[in-house]
Formats: sequence, C-alpha cells, structure tokens
Amino acid sequence: MSGTRTRNRWDEVFARRTKANAADGLTSILALANKTDLISFAGGFPDPSTFPGAELVGHFERLVADRDVSAFQYAPVAGLVGPRAFIADRLERDGTRPDEDELVITSGAIEALELLGKSLIDSGDLVLVEGPTYLGAVMAFQSFEATVRAVPLDDQGLDVDRLETAIAAHGRPKFLYTIPDHQNPAGITLANDRRQRLVEIARHHGFLIVEDVAYRDLGFTEDRLPSLWSLGPDVVVQAGTFSKTFMPGVRLGWGAGPPELVASMVWAKQNTDQCATALGQRLLEEYGRAGGLDAQARRSRALYGRRCALLMEALEAHMPDDVSWTRPRGGFFSWLELPNGIDGSAVARRAVDDGVAIVPGAPFFPGAGGEGNRAGGESNVRLSFSRVEDDLIDEGIERLASVIEHSRKG
Ligand SMILES: Cc1ncc(COP(=O)(O)O)c(C=O)c1O
Repeated sequence: MSGTRTRNRWDEVFARRTKANAADGLTSILALANKTDLISFAGGFPDPSTFPGAELVGHFERLVADRDVSAFQYAPVAGLVGPRAFIADRLERDGTRPDEDELVITSGAIEALELLGKSLIDSGDLVLVEGPTYLGAVMAFQSFEATVRAVPLDDQGLDVDRLETAIAAHGRPKFLYTIPDHQNPAGITLANDRRQRLVEIARHHGFLIVEDVAYRDLGFTEDRLPSLWSLGPDVVVQAGTFSKTFMPGVRLGWGAGPPELVASMVWAKQNTDQCATALGQRLLEEYGRAGGLDAQARRSRALYGRRCALLMEALEAHMPDDVSWTRPRGGFFSWLELPNGIDGSAVARRAVDDGVAIVPGAPFFPGAGGEGNRAGGESNVRLSFSRVEDDLIDEGIERLASVIEHSRKG
C-alpha cells in the first residue's frame, strides 16, 4: 500500500567511521557550486568551455569503427598498456619516468588517495596534512580512522620548520599529504628550497610523502618547480588527475611511487572498482597522443590566468583595506583572510542571500586540536575563479565586499 511506508533510522546502524564523516562539508559545497542563480566562486570545477569538443568525437568514432576491444573490455587493474605508456611519457617530461611497477591508473586522484589510505592507515595512525588542505583528502584519510593533524602553510607553502615541530610533538606520521603546486584551497606554491628540505626531512624520519599534483599543469607562467616525486622517488608517492586538464567526467588519475606501494594500491583497487574506465583511458591516450591534451592545457592556462588577473583587480578595487588574499600563480583558488572577528561561515551564508557563493575556510582544516588547527580557517574564505564568467567577476566581488562590510556591523 502506498503512502504508509514506515521509515527505519538506518543511520543508527552506520559504522563508527561513517558516523564520524556523516556531517561532511563537501556535499554542501558541491550543492552550492551547482546553483545557477548565483555568481559562484564556490566549487573547484573546471570551466566547461575547456572541455574537448569535436576532436573527441573523431577519436570515439575510430574506436567504435575499429572495434577496439581494449576500450570496451575490462582493463588490467593497473591500467591498459597504451594509456600507461602515455602517462609514463608525460611523467618523464615532468622529470621522472615511472618503471612498469611504479604506476597505477586510477579513477581520479581521489581514488589514488583512497587506495593509499586503504593500504597504509590503521585506526589511530597519524597523518599530517597542510592547514588548510583539500577536504576530500582529509575525508578519505579519516574514513580509515586516521588521526589527521594540520601543519600550517605560509606564503611559501608548507612551513617545514613547523613540520619538524609537529613531528617532535606528535611523533612520526604514517605519511604527510601535500599539494605543492597552486594549492587547494590557498592557491600557494611550495618554494623550491622547501621542496628539497621536505624530501630530506621525510628521509631522515622515515615517513612517506603523498604529493597531490592536481593543479600542477595549470601554472599561468612557464615557471615549473621540480615535483617532489622527481626529487625523492624513494620517499614520495604522487597522486595526479586528468579532471582539471581533460575533464572530470572521465574520472581518470594516477598514482606513481615506490613499487611495493603501487603494488598495494593495485591490490586495494581490485576490491573497489577493479579498473579505471577502459573507454576513458583509450580516449585519453588517443586525444593526448594527437596533441589534444597539450593544446587544451594551453587554452586552460590562458583562461584561468585571465580570470585570476580579473579577480585580483576586483579584490584591489572593492575589498576593505583590512582584507588580504593570496596571489596564485596557477590553479583555481585564492584564499581570503577576513578582518578580525568576522566569521567566514557567517559571510558565506549572507553572501548567498546577496547572490554570491563562496566557501568558508573552516572545513579545509581537520578537526580541532592539532598543530596549526588553532586558527582553524574561521576567518578565511576560499574563492574559486575557475568557473566564473569574466564579466561577472567584478560584480561578484563587489557584492562580497559589501557583505563583509555589513558583517563588521554585526
Ligand atoms: C587537490 C585536489 N586533489 C584531488 C582532487 C580530486 O580529483 P579527481 O577529480 O581526480 O578525483 C581535487 C579536486 O577538487 C583537488 O582539488
């Protein structure tokens, strides 16, 4: 009989680790990002105008016409041979070519992080992250019941002195998770001298570095610092993604690192999705080998660089003197520091009423209590400039500045 369904409280039977993650912030951020009636600086989404067009149709048609079984069959867990070679070639161009047993193709970078969590984390293990950092990574590590603590960032990236302090206080972590290039959410890049030092610290203490290179290919200039993986392939595992340079819809990324770690990720992947999209892997390979990916990255860098410049101009023009922000050299994000006493969550809520969406800073920090968690991002907000139309940026920032001024008055 319809209409008389009794509802069980299924949340009562959730596992402990699921309950801990139930009130996550990511879902609400993604919901905001999809609202169309707002000027949205919320989600870290690529602009749809960067997505491949007709040239991808040609590659797809050829795969179908050739009855390319590799594109339509289950793939090997670590990825198809051709796409693996394509990714290895790109990594070689970036400093280090992975050996056969040093690379796994994943369903996006988030899966690489999940597989690392599954492989490495026992309940209560210490994982260090940057404060602030990518929320999805913290959620992935916490789902394996890691104790996640943040080490502060400054304008040169992860504060390596504070990292040493954190290790002295809390002991050796299982791993340190870092986003060295055009970080999410702060838009900061790790300075060259710190990269070398970070690798040395990891070697000295014997912990692993998980390097997330999600925005590495989206620098606005030709400057490119060495990847941590190229500096320390013995202590670094790199997680990468094609979401920002190809498209998120294809769900493709990679993990590259020491063979025993990659083997463990491959083992873990066997029990999750078994293999990343074979069709996507073949499309990426064909499109990439034909030069499509490089051309797309060039267009994307120009687009995001222009939007970032417009955002910087708008912030200069409209923000009160006591608001400061980071000046990214790539990627999607700038991180705002609000005046004393103004709460980022309250600003984000009011901003929606005034037709602009932003993300408050607090969710980008793991739970309170760790080194670097004291500030906790309460007086910060993240602005993503990647998907705001050029001609709306100034208007959006003017509205946000007015919300900040009104928040001052209570
Ligand atoms: C730093 C960082 N890593 C990983 C991801 C997730 O990438 P993917 O779509 O490949 O799972 C994101 C997406 O926002 C990100 O910002």
